[in-house]
Amino acid sequence: MAKYLINPNGPLHGEVEVSGSKNAVLPIMAAALLTEGTCEILDVPVLLDVDVMCRLLRSIGSEIKEFYDHNTIEITTKTIAQEEAPNELVKKMRASILVMGPLLARTGRARIALPGGCAIGTRPIDLHLKGLKALGARIETEEGFVVASAARLYGSNIYLDSPSVGATENIMMAAALAKGMTILENAAEEPEIVDLANFLNKMGARIKGAGTDTIKIEGVKQLKGTRHSVIPDRIETGTFMLAAAITRGDICIKNVVPDHVKPVTAKLKECGVHIEDAGDGMLVDARGKALVATDLKTLPYPGFPTDIQSQFMAFLTTVQGPSLVIENVFENRYMHVNALNRMGAHIKIEGKAAMIEGGRTLRGTEVFATDLRAGAALVLAGLAAKGATEISEIFHIERGYSDFIEKLRKVGANIVRIEEL
Ligand code: UD1
Repeated sequence: MAKYLINPNGPLHGEVEVSGSKNAVLPIMAAALLTEGTCEILDVPVLLDVDVMCRLLRSIGSEIKEFYDHNTIEITTKTIAQEEAPNELVKKMRASILVMGPLLARTGRARIALPGGCAIGTRPIDLHLKGLKALGARIETEEGFVVASAARLYGSNIYLDSPSVGATENIMMAAALAKGMTILENAAEEPEIVDLANFLNKMGARIKGAGTDTIKIEGVKQLKGTRHSVIPDRIETGTFMLAAAITRGDICIKNVVPDHVKPVTAKLKECGVHIEDAGDGMLVDARGKALVATDLKTLPYPGFPTDIQSQFMAFLTTVQGPSLVIENVFENRYMHVNALNRMGAHIKIEGKAAMIEGGRTLRGTEVFATDLRAGAALVLAGLAAKGATEISEIFHIERGYSDFIEKLRKVGANIVRIEEL
């Protein structure tokens, strides 16, 4: 199993370019199943999760070509070979559930194993199923699988109990080929939803309101192939902002949409980090500053992203004063806390709340990643720690960060990937 070995190397400095968004590309790839035409997707990040989605689509019948130029992939699904997502792939990645809406809309049937992915809570799929049911699908469960079927889907009024990202995406994709109008209320408003809607509209869908809490989808008979560039990854952007902050360095981050990281920018500014628009990038400068604590709570977009909570917490252990973090989106997203405490942090958990005593000097030690973002938090802690940090179970990190090590090394980190027999 491979590990990361990090040695202290002072403040990070330089330029880094963010890749295409993981959470945008996965639903876009699934949406390519809605047409027989060829979908050309540009700025695709090189990630294990993208690889899993490629394998999943191939098993369904897609032909996928990969090009190095602009990190492009081309997906063509002339016929659906099987309406089933195999358990072996689905259990590796929760986003596999996103093929359900497209398969159902295209063939009238989808059989999907109950999904896996990061162990950050129970993560049910009831809202996905409720939405598809409202569009006329019959939902049955059998031996760990869920089967959705419908001779035809019909537009409907759907109110989501909570604004689930995945459920919004699945419903939007299925409704794109339904007969009539779907009005989806209390929808998720994440930038990745907007990117998916833009992609679907280029395919010929009629979707309005993506990015607000009410999305209107007028079903069409057929969708066609198209060409689309994936938006920059706002979670990777936030992670590099925190890499600059935790090492008290300065990094110019390229290929960013500043609006997408506003909640992270606002919180870092409260702590005393200088952030400015650098024309074609964003400059994050934490050099020579006495940084102070802040409180934060995670919320659906445009609130503070749960996917940056663990990285921000690693940073908060190093600033002066106590902080309070409230995790509202997932019920089990504090798995990085044990490892951070072993590195010298002082964090107490009580239900949704984490109390952080700031001003600690982190010490390198042997830790392991428990999920994707928890793993990223440990990398950040290792960059700021005294002594060597060894992180195992790094496949979690490689699920979601493209060229992470190379990018960190480019801004001065002393981090290597070691293969262990
Ligand atoms: C997506 C992101 C993930 C991010 C999350 C929240 C992808 C591939 N992943 O995950 O990185 O952390 O949004 O921003 O885009 N829930 C239900 N029933 C459902 C669906 C969800 O109760 O049917 C709950 C979940 O358990 C969780 C909350 O709703 O507590 C948010 O989940 P959701 O927004 O669906 O996240 P994902 O789409 O899984």
